Amino acid sequence: MRFDLLTLFPEIFQGYLAESLLKRAIEAGLVDVQLHDIRHWAQDKHHSVDDRPFGGGPGMVLKVEPVVECVEAVRRHDPDPGHLVMLTPQGRRLDQPAVERLAEHHRILLLCGRYEGFDERIRVILQPEEISIGDFVLSGGEVAAMAIIDAVVRLVPGVLGDELSSSDDSFSGEQRLLEFAQYTRPRVYRGLEAPPVLLSGNHQQIARWREENSRERTHSRRADLLDKQLPDQHVGNNSREATPPGPPREALPPGY
Ligand code: ADE
Repeated sequence: MRFDLLTLFPEIFQGYLAESLLKRAIEAGLVDVQLHDIRHWAQDKHHSVDDRPFGGGPGMVLKVEPVVECVEAVRRHDPDPGHLVMLTPQGRRLDQPAVERLAEHHRILLLCGRYEGFDERIRVILQPEEISIGDFVLSGGEVAAMAIIDAVVRLVPGVLGDELSSSDDSFSGEQRLLEFAQYTRPRVYRGLEAPPVLLSGNHQQIARWREENSRERTHSRRADLLDKQLPDQHVGNNSREATPPGPPREALPPGY
């Protein structure tokens, strides 16, 4: 899987690329990340990449020429032109199904904006997929690009030690519920005991407990996710009303 990051601040990514899961994925040759400084495509002697908005107003707008020409040049590097993503608060909001769709591409170009936004002709000419990571405004697309790389890389085969380990993640698998509560040693801490079933060795009962816990957590924290499910995805329940409400969250010790 290859990512091309098009940004005015390539240094922002250095620390992130050199750590943890992503570092190992790059070292193993599973992921390749290339950085491209949009400023190298600036055309005037001052290397300017932004300008004042026509019609006035605060801030600066990213200019059309350096951005379009940077994207075109980067695409020419490889026979696969890649899938172009523009990071913007005006884009479609990122969720796990969108991450899964992105992971089907072999090459993704992530175009990071700054300032007040992109000259509208960048959108018209390049026709990118526009993605937002949430309804809030960041000072640039770089943090959003990192979030996308992080989420997509987890789905690249071989990146997580255990091929199945992302299918239990929150929002993943067929049902897209929140993940069940997890425990590790010690078995009891400050009087809080891990559910004995998890230490029973009975895999069927453990699976059942986890499914129920996952459903209860989703119900109490993110009922909107249950509303998105098709009726036949309510395991053990044929209707929304039959879903057990589960105890109120405040009544439970942490982790339940
Ligand atoms: N750039 C600024 N804010 C953003 C957001 N919420 N998502 C993606 N890119 C952005």
